[in-house]
Amino acid sequence: MRSIIPMKHARALAVAAFALVALEALAGSPAAGKAKAALCAACHGLDGRSQMPEAPHLAGQVEGYLAAQLHAFKSGERHNEQMAIIVKALSPQDIDDLAAYYASLPPSNAADAHP
Ligand code: HEC
Repeated sequence: MRSIIPMKHARALAVAAFALVALEALAGSPAAGKAKAALCAACHGLDGRSQMPEAPHLAGQVEGYLAAQLHAFKSGERHNEQMAIIVKALSPQDIDDLAAYYASLPPSNAADAHP
């Protein structure tokens, strides 16, 4: 009997499914990020709404963007003295978790921005 899915396709599907599972495992966890966000609250606010005029709001920003910025601070590609100190202590998993956490928060509303 011939299988509906030829063998080489079945193998490709299995590889794709495995890759998806692996990606899932690597993705950030908002709950883990929340616990790590205590480090960030003084400047970016407990809820990702910035407490300082020079620090941006993080709440509701795109996860991939946040992670990319943290990696850029870590590599020195993006430079900021305060962030450079903070990111030193962050692992790639911390970065993913923090990005997932802040992306999960409701975005800051321009109507209640700082005066
Ligand atoms: C001492 C204050 C301070 C602390 C603490 C701090 N940040 Fe920042 N962060 C800043 C400032 C200031 C900027 C703006 C940098 C710039 O102008 O390039 C910034 C920028 C960022 C950006 C870029 C946002 C954007 O819109 O491009 C991200 C992401 C970020 N911080 C995440 C974090 C995370 C996550 C933590 C905690 C692990 C943290 N920060 C802790 C001050 C701080």
